[in-house]
This record gives sequence, structure tokens and C-alpha cells, in this order.
Amino acid sequence: MIKTASPSPPLAVLMAHGADAVAAVRAGRSLNDALAATPAAVRPGTQSLAFHALRGLGAAQALRQQLAPKAPPPWVDALLLLALAVSRPAGDAPPPYDAHTLVNQAVDAAKRHAAAQARFVNAVLRRYLREREALEGAIATDPAAAWNHPRWWIDALQRDWPRQWQDLLRADDRRAPMSLRVNARRGDVPAYLERLAAGGIAARAVSLPGGWGGAAIELALPRAVHELPGFDAGDVSVQDLAAQQAAPLLLGDGLPAGARVLDACAAPGGKAAHLLELADLDLLALDVDAARLQKVDQTLSRLGLQARLLAADARDTAAWWDGRPFDAILLDAPCSASGIVRRHPDVRWLRRPSDIEALARTQATMLDALWPLLAPGGRLVYATCSVFRAEGERGIDAFLQRAPDADLRPSPGQLLPLADNGSKGEAGRPAGLPDDPPPVTDGFHYALLHKRVS
Ligand SMILES: C[S@@+](CC[C@H](N)C(=O)[O-])C[C@H]1O[C@@H](n2cnc3c(N)ncnc32)[C@H](O)[C@@H]1O
Repeated sequence: MIKTASPSPPLAVLMAHGADAVAAVRAGRSLNDALAATPAAVRPGTQSLAFHALRGLGAAQALRQQLAPKAPPPWVDALLLLALAVSRPAGDAPPPYDAHTLVNQAVDAAKRHAAAQARFVNAVLRRYLREREALEGAIATDPAAAWNHPRWWIDALQRDWPRQWQDLLRADDRRAPMSLRVNARRGDVPAYLERLAAGGIAARAVSLPGGWGGAAIELALPRAVHELPGFDAGDVSVQDLAAQQAAPLLLGDGLPAGARVLDACAAPGGKAAHLLELADLDLLALDVDAARLQKVDQTLSRLGLQARLLAADARDTAAWWDGRPFDAILLDAPCSASGIVRRHPDVRWLRRPSDIEALARTQATMLDALWPLLAPGGRLVYATCSVFRAEGERGIDAFLQRAPDADLRPSPGQLLPLADNGSKGEAGRPAGLPDDPPPVTDGFHYALLHKRVS
């Protein structure tokens, strides 16, 4: 019997699910949660449309405001915004469909799910096609439309990164590469590259950012993890290059076997696993979210690694600490995720300016609570996947004022999601491998703190 490929779902169906996702994000839910509710068969197509729409949402909102100053009901609005955004380029991605096709399919989606509004959707979108040039001109001077980020976010980046803010905003709309970490207990980068090549998967070795040593793998094109040789057996994991900096930084020249290490915000377990791949540690993996902690368990099981897992609030040390100091602590603190917007285009629309202040306070409380648990001579790595200085450099500067026994050791500091990632190989560290083109990592801030022996 001849097998035929399963037909791809009609665009109108994808647009309807895409509108669900955009409506969910505009109502404050994460895109991941919204996509989890999408039927598996249409999830990839819906995700692709939703990513494009969220990368172009600022302009789409401004256009809809021009076309229909009174907002329609939320789902119809989301459908309009999706159709408008997807008929424009987003970052370096061209519109994936012809504009007339998108209008026809949007009207079809409206007829199925909001029949009373179908004529309105048709009228608005056809007017956009007719008056496109004038409408685009009218929104061109609106920063939120031009940069597709909320105004407060643009202002914050402008303040924090006066030279790089435009590049940072552009970087958020690029597609992120898929990077791999080879399990050091089971292989190395050259050997795994050979396995990828044997499987017809194009990839290259890349150095970790900032000249801090270590190599990883970047795939030419993203893949489903189960297509990666030995993934299920634990030979390899998916992890951004910047995130792969944490474990080597904490381990430094090496910790003695059995050293007591705390990963205070461990879920889903990427950095905890990396630590255990590199060293024999007595690792306590803590996370306040018991459901997310199960993911740590799954990650460690797949990789054949072991740690003690505990669901607890890292700040409430009296509730869980046994009184024995840790030799090293990783504090990968909850943060705005402003450094990983290219992977999570919803983040910029979900955050509020007050979130950054609240997160900075939580990060400070965590540092203050955990510092006394570190043994004299011990090391603490503070990490956030943020590009806002309030969650990085400023938080660490303030902590150093409060903790007289803390020294800031040579650290990567701020890694920006740019080809020139902002890290200049501080403190005389050699530059990394001359990768060409240089890999673009997620945005992270890393500080290595050392506790003085009095
Ligand atoms: C950036 S993620 C950690 C990522 C993880 N280190 C990894 O590499 O896979 C931050 C984590 O902090 C956890 N968290 C937030 N507040 C916490 C608290 N008060 N105590 C412990 N964990 C907390 C969140 O549940 C989340 O899993």
C-alpha cells in the first residue's frame, strides 16, 4: 500500500488556534501553557504562527488601533492581530503566506468561531490591504510598533545599554539556534559531532561565551530531541551556550569528590545535571515548585545522575537547612527572562515594569538568605537569564555592599544575546575559539562570589 503524507491542517484552522494563543498571552498566560492546550496535530503550525504574531504584535496592535479604534471582543481582536502580524515580516523572517490568502483564511476562521464578526474581520483586513502604505506610515513613529516591544522595555534597554539597545531589540526577534551539551561522562564534542555527521545532522563545535573555556555543539537546524543519537540514553542534552557556563564557573579548578553543593533554584535541572556530569558531588537540588522538581528527577534519570531533591523555598532556610555549610552554591534565580525572549516571544508582553523591581527584591533576599549557608572559602555563582542591569550587575553591587566577607571573582558578567556578546574575556582571560560566525547565546548575567576565610 502506498503511504501518503498526512495532509497539513488548513490555514484557517491554524489561524484559529493561533488566535487562541495570542488571546491567552494578551490575557496574561504564557505561550507554553497556551500551546499545551492546542491539539498535538496542529501544535507545530500553531506555534510557528504564534511566534511570528508575538514578534510583530506591537505593530499589529498599532495597525488595529488605526483600522478599528474600538477594540472588538478579545478573540476576534487576537485573530485580527495575528493576521496583521503574519502578513508583515517579523525580525529576519518574511511573511510566511501571501497577504490575500491570510485575509481569506482569517475570514474563514472567523466564520467558524465568531460568525457574527466575520464581516467585520473581512472589512478591517481588506482595508489594510487597500491602504497598507498609508497605515504603515501612520504607525512608523510609534516606538512600540517600530520595535515590537512595550515602551517601558525599550526605555529600560535604552537606559541600561545606550550603545546596544537597538541590536538587543532586534535580537529578540531572531530565531534561536539549538545548542547541545555532550554528557562528559559518556563522550566529548568531537566524538559526538562524528555521530551527528554519521546520522546526516549538520552541526559545528562552538566555544562557550566570553573566553571562559569549554565547547559545545550548535546544530545547523533544530531537531526533535529524539532524533539526536543517544538522547534517550543520556548522551546529550539541549542547553543554550550561555546556560552551559554555569557549571564550569561554579566548579572552577575543581571541587573535591563528595563536595556539598546546593543548587537553590534547580528546576528543570539543566545546570544541576551539568554539574553532576562534570564532578562527583553531594548535590542538593532545591526548587519551590514541586511539579517543576519532577522535571529535575526526569532529567537526572535520563542522564543516569543522582542528587537529593527537595521542594522548598530557598529563602526560608530555617525550614530545610541541616546546618552543615555548603562548599558551593548555584543561585540561578527567578528573573524576568528578558535574556531569552528569542525563545519565548511572549515574555516581553507578559512582564510589567513593576515585575523587574519585585524580582530584584526577591533576588536580593535569596542572596542574603543563602550566603550564610556557604562555607568560608566557598564559592557562589549568581545567575539570571536577564539583560536588565537591575537583575544583574546592580543587584550584585548592592549585595557586595551588604556582605563584607564576599569578593567578586573574575566573572563573565553580562552576556548579551549578540554576536559580540558584551563579555570581553575580563581579567585577562584568553578570547574563545575563533568561531565563524560567532555563536549568539541567550542573555545571562553571571557573577562568581567567593567567601573570605576570616
Ligand atoms: C531560572 S529557573 C532555574 C533553571 C534551572 N537552574 C536549570 O538550569 O534548569 C528558576 C527556578 O527558581 C524557582 N524558584 C522561584 N522562587 C524560588 C524560591 N523562593 N525558592 C526556590 N526556588 C525558587 C522556580 O520554580 C524556577 O524553577
